[in-house]
Amino acid sequence: MLGRLLELAGVDTVILERKSADYVLGRIRAGVLEQGSIALMDRAGAGRRMHDEGLVHQGIELSFDGDSHRIDFAALINRHVMVYGQTELTRDLMALRRAPTIYEAEDVALGDIDTHPFVTYRKDGLTHRIDCDFIAGCDGYHGVSRQSVPTAAITTFERLYPFGWLGVLVDQPPVADELIYAHHERGFALCSQRSPSRSRYYVQVPTGEAVENWSDARFWDELRRRLSPATAEALRTGPSIEKSIAPLRSFVAEPLRFGRLFLAGDAAHIVPPTGAKGLNLALSDVAALADAMIEHFDEKSSAGIDAYSAKALSRIWKAERFSWWMTTLLHTFPEGGAFGRRIQRAEFDYLSGSIPAQQSLAENYTGLPL
Ligand code: PHB
Repeated sequence: MLGRLLELAGVDTVILERKSADYVLGRIRAGVLEQGSIALMDRAGAGRRMHDEGLVHQGIELSFDGDSHRIDFAALINRHVMVYGQTELTRDLMALRRAPTIYEAEDVALGDIDTHPFVTYRKDGLTHRIDCDFIAGCDGYHGVSRQSVPTAAITTFERLYPFGWLGVLVDQPPVADELIYAHHERGFALCSQRSPSRSRYYVQVPTGEAVENWSDARFWDELRRRLSPATAEALRTGPSIEKSIAPLRSFVAEPLRFGRLFLAGDAAHIVPPTGAKGLNLALSDVAALADAMIEHFDEKSSAGIDAYSAKALSRIWKAERFSWWMTTLLHTFPEGGAFGRRIQRAEFDYLSGSIPAQQSLAENYTGLPL
């Protein structure tokens, strides 16, 4: 997205990608776009297929030990989200790109980030060097960008949760029109979807659980037990086409700028998936970064790039807070005990009965302003 926004403004870019294009397009990623992310796809001229094939969702369902409450985004705040896979969004942006993307770039290294930045990489056995004005570190949590910064210059904040999400993708129609986030004594469950014929389901599992221990039959049994009887009854199961476990963590690195290197997306922050903020937060980072860089080139002003880190972090921390809060409400915490569960139940009951509380959830879920 950053490459696309810069390309539209006449700024030259090169993207270095460690994996192949096929790998990128084969990876199963997130699936819910905030309203600002939908608008950003339009700004990028990349929204056509999203509007044709994406599913507009006007709400979500929360369930607590089988009792349900719908959060009606449309009625509460007149907003919505779009179910459209991150992989599809990436596919659309890749198809539009004219500037170079170098796939299977190995051994990427950053140099002179304070003065005249450059990047070196290896491709087909040869070493290459690119000199540039700026480096955007959009290379994920494990990427080289954040690791190139001296540790003394960076502060990190982290929370690990004692569980992960076991996810299954299946070619069956979704169990419900909208997403269902379910709290249950046995653990959290989520009913999500990718299309009218493809569904994505998750169950909370303890940290360290091995995916090999989860046959399809065991997964479907466990999911059904965590849903309301009516939902469990309606669930259409089938052979999984993808099954994996993702750990949950909250992580933020500050600041986001080191000379001429800028961090964006997972390179700078991780949210637990409850609330579907990861992709959206990366998009809002790069929207702010693109504007800052374009201002630098067009107006010869550094105001935008000087403000990027603080501006992006303010929004990042709000999304961190929301994702942490949804995670805390909906999961089972082994150390929380009976008191913890009663507090979670009280939170659910409060939400179910309070329009302002529901508006707050709806406002955060559909996305705070960019
Ligand atoms: C997904 O469909 O993968 C998904 C949806 C909502 C979430 C997390 C993941 O909160």
